[in-house]
Amino acid sequence: MPPGLIFLGAAGSGKGTQAQQLSEHLGLVQLSTGDILRDSIRRQTPLGLEVKKYIETGELVPDETVLGLVKEALQDNSISDKGFILDGFPRTLEQAVGLDTILKQIDLQVSMVIEFQIGLDETIKRIGGRRICSGCNKIYHVEFNPPSNASVCDICSSSLIQRKDDTEEKVRRRFEIYQAETEPLITHYQSLVHSVDATRTPKEIFEKLVSQIEALNGIHQNA
Ligand code: AP5
Ligand code: MG
Repeated sequence: MPPGLIFLGAAGSGKGTQAQQLSEHLGLVQLSTGDILRDSIRRQTPLGLEVKKYIETGELVPDETVLGLVKEALQDNSISDKGFILDGFPRTLEQAVGLDTILKQIDLQVSMVIEFQIGLDETIKRIGGRRICSGCNKIYHVEFNPPSNASVCDICSSSLIQRKDDTEEKVRRRFEIYQAETEPLITHYQSLVHSVDATRTPKEIFEKLVSQIEALNGIHQNA
């Protein structure tokens, strides 16, 4: 069975940065609920109109809505061949239980849960300097991972933007929600959880995750 990974971590902990690099390096499919929801807002779809108020205030989108979109995304055939990284999902116990049901129906499973550990002060520093490509969603930081040209994506040359929920006030709220709603999932997933110190450099974290995932792959191949 291909690897099925969940990335848990507060705003700015580096889930998206690592998921982008790992999916490219290991050929896994990255499913970021935040990216899917923001894209629906940009395209002004019915989903986008429904979720805009939650995203822009830093509140969670209702479980039923998120479960519906994840179910649809996971049914894509390429996922059962390549494996997946769920970046920012599940975020509540209800979503985790719903995910268990969806995965059973399509004969996939979660093989590892990565918990990105970071404190509030560091997340505020990171979110303030984050820039996102408006074309391909590539993530930059003005200081920690700057683009070659301050306002343009290195990969697709689209303009770089700041997310509307990237203000200090909203990051504080997202951090609070993470602690209250999402951290309890560590107990739900128990032995599947591997914690990483998310304050290390992106390269150190990437190398650690690659070796953990490759070890997991070895286990799957030998099983
Ligand atoms: P989402 O988009 O998932 O936001 P988030 O969880 O708050 O996390 P971020 O994307 O802000 O941070 P990240 O961990 O990906 O960090 P990044 O790699 O970008 O969700 C947004 C909203 O959508 C939610 O608030 C909610 O409304 C809704 N939503 C989404 N999923 C939902 C769900 N399942 N249920 C309900 N609602 C949902 O890195 C941050 C910055 O730091 C970047 O600038 C980066 O370059 C830099 N950086 C990364 N790693 C390092 C490092 N090691 N050292 C230094 N800098 C680093
Ligand atoms: Mg992200």
